[in-house]
Amino acid sequence: MKILVVGATGTIGKAVADALAERHKVIRAGYKDGDVSVDLGSKTSIEEMYRSIGQVDAVISTAGLADFAPFSELDDAAYDLALQNKLMGQINLVRIGQEHISDGGSFTLTAGILSRDPMPGSVVISLANGALESFAKAAALELGRGLRVNAVSPVFVKETMEMMGMDPSTGLSAADTAKSYLAAVEGDLNGATLDAPDYA
Ligand SMILES: NC(=O)c1ccc[n+]([C@@H]2O[C@H](COP(=O)([O-])OP(=O)(O)OC[C@H]3O[C@@H](n4cnc5c(N)ncnc54)[C@H](OP(=O)(O)O)[C@@H]3O)[C@@H](O)[C@H]2O)c1
Repeated sequence: MKILVVGATGTIGKAVADALAERHKVIRAGYKDGDVSVDLGSKTSIEEMYRSIGQVDAVISTAGLADFAPFSELDDAAYDLALQNKLMGQINLVRIGQEHISDGGSFTLTAGILSRDPMPGSVVISLANGALESFAKAAALELGRGLRVNAVSPVFVKETMEMMGMDPSTGLSAADTAKSYLAAVEGDLNGATLDAPDYA
């Protein structure tokens, strides 16, 4: 398969792209680096990316920005970033991508455990994650041509915890997290949220 990975220069995305590259042709998209660059916050940028790479068989997003901050400190910009980038950016990958994906192709988006297991500071991330899970479940009912859409829900990634100076022992490695994305692309799930630990 020819697979586009948006966010492929990141912690999760690099592990996903590297695992896929063992048996698929992978196009790595990032914001600054990668085979192609894209800004999830801009529909024009998403359209240009799709036009530049030609038809693909699957699209994976491991990108999406949202701030971790106390509820009392969240301003309009924090809500806008989560809604326009993490949420609508990934949804626009599906909306625009329908014109650029083969019959039977799949979209795999990234939500996160904070939708169902929130913590203080996670309000805008939790709301975007929950909306992404609902989007995948509902859009799956209406995508034609055998297209599928799923969300992956990662837990805290060990490498991210290490970068943040935390004890990584409760986390899941990026390589193990990547297995849920491969299951979404290579399996036949549709409208599902894949909890990353279930596939490690
Ligand atoms: N890491 C975790 O513990 C964890 C846990 C649960 C959920 N998640 C979710 O998983 C996703 C990926 O996390 P991560 O830790 O792998 O992130 P990361 O290491 O920060 O990587 C982010 C990726 O997204 C790209 N990117 C940044 N801004 C972008 C934009 N405006 N448009 C398009 N691409 C953009 C980056 O490209 P450049 O490198 O070119 O800037 C990079 O490839 C996020 O949505 C995060 O909320 C992560």
